[in-house]
Amino acid sequence: MIEKIEKYLKELIVSLQVARIYTINHPKFEEVSNAAFVTLKDILQQNYEFTFGIIGDELAYEREIFFDLSKKVKAAIHIFKGKGIERITFSRGIEKDEFDKFIEFLGTPKQDFTGDLMAYFSSLRLKNIVVGKINILSEAKREPDEVKKYLSHYDESLSKLSVSIEDIVDGHKIDGLDLKFTLINVLDNLFSQYQEFLKLTAMKRYDDVTFGHLVNVSILAMYFSWKLGYAKEDFLDIATAALFHDIGKIFISRKIIKKPDRLSAGEFAVMKSHTILGAQILLKYSENLGVIAPVVAFEHHLRYDMKGYPKPRFSQPLHASSLIVSICDVYDALTQRRSYKRDYPPNLIYEFMNREKGGLFHPQLLDRFFQIFGVWPLGTILLLSNKDIAIVRKQNQDNIFSPIVEIVSPESQRQFINLKENRTVTIEKFLSPLSEGKEYIPLV
Ligand SMILES: [Fe+2]
Ligand SMILES: [Fe+2]
Repeated sequence: MIEKIEKYLKELIVSLQVARIYTINHPKFEEVSNAAFVTLKDILQQNYEFTFGIIGDELAYEREIFFDLSKKVKAAIHIFKGKGIERITFSRGIEKDEFDKFIEFLGTPKQDFTGDLMAYFSSLRLKNIVVGKINILSEAKREPDEVKKYLSHYDESLSKLSVSIEDIVDGHKIDGLDLKFTLINVLDNLFSQYQEFLKLTAMKRYDDVTFGHLVNVSILAMYFSWKLGYAKEDFLDIATAALFHDIGKIFISRKIIKKPDRLSAGEFAVMKSHTILGAQILLKYSENLGVIAPVVAFEHHLRYDMKGYPKPRFSQPLHASSLIVSICDVYDALTQRRSYKRDYPPNLIYEFMNREKGGLFHPQLLDRFFQIFGVWPLGTILLLSNKDIAIVRKQNQDNIFSPIVEIVSPESQRQFINLKENRTVTIEKFLSPLSEGKEYIPLV
């Protein structure tokens, strides 16, 4: 029985992942949810009902705690917990339709529920599924502790992404479905008020520069392509491709990247080969990860004007995903410079990238990029012309140079100003979070 229950929990969670990625109307959902439902019916043949619970961060049935499974499905467990569900009971009369509705309910992002969740739940008429300890904290009532938990889950998702990178480096199998599920959870968190994502680039979460870079570029590319209007399946493909765009480098890095001196011509040639090497590695994973990832690995240094590397034997235009990733790639590389050199002020990064419009970058895409992220990204610490210190809180899409900021110093001046409308103050300069801006970091 225990094996059967574990099998069912696995299938239930795969159904949830597929529902999140493809929606419940997709044939893929039908396939996985049918499998889960057959196992469930089988269990209910022998028991009138069965209950599983979540204890701490683990899935449990009676006295059995499924440690291994729980480790693999942390994001899903977080979804149960996020909805206040600690116990779920299924009983014999359950219909497939009830099961599907329940999965759909689980798969809907938390922020899409504003009304009374319990009322919603009963309106679904889920007679044969009962959940226990529903205790939804409204956004306003969220305790500081809850915020901490929330952010730590976000952290967890990020480290999971880096585990996927490690898996490929070590030649392990990779769960493409779970990876995309993690990506979409990261994106969900970006929608919320805790917009951590640009701060992320400032945080040194990983020792290995390449790992941090891959995760950052993936998140940038996902957010960017979502904002561009790509469908979920497509922006997840782009995010996945971005996550692995430099994977070839990790294989080379052990020999060459760590070299402190300038690379010789020969070494540089090896370095350039990370594109081809990456594409070769990712082709082996195409069944799980799709074909966009090897295409992007191959094309991301080709440049919009096709003057980059590796020299292609074809002349068709680059894949849109490669053009998107290449913008995010360079943007992150320039932002990350702060880790070992003097900071690059964001306006300088904008100028540099804009000079490459039509050369390195697709012109309209580059414009859209800065409309979305602004010249001064969220969380940037600024000195204004009246000597007040402000932090960027929101972009103005029609004026990328003048965001909405919050004055944080002097304390008595604390307020929001829209720099697009208020023409009496201007931005004087950027304060680096590594030096002059350091003391304002807690306010970011
Ligand atoms: Fe690269
Ligand atoms: Fe890169």
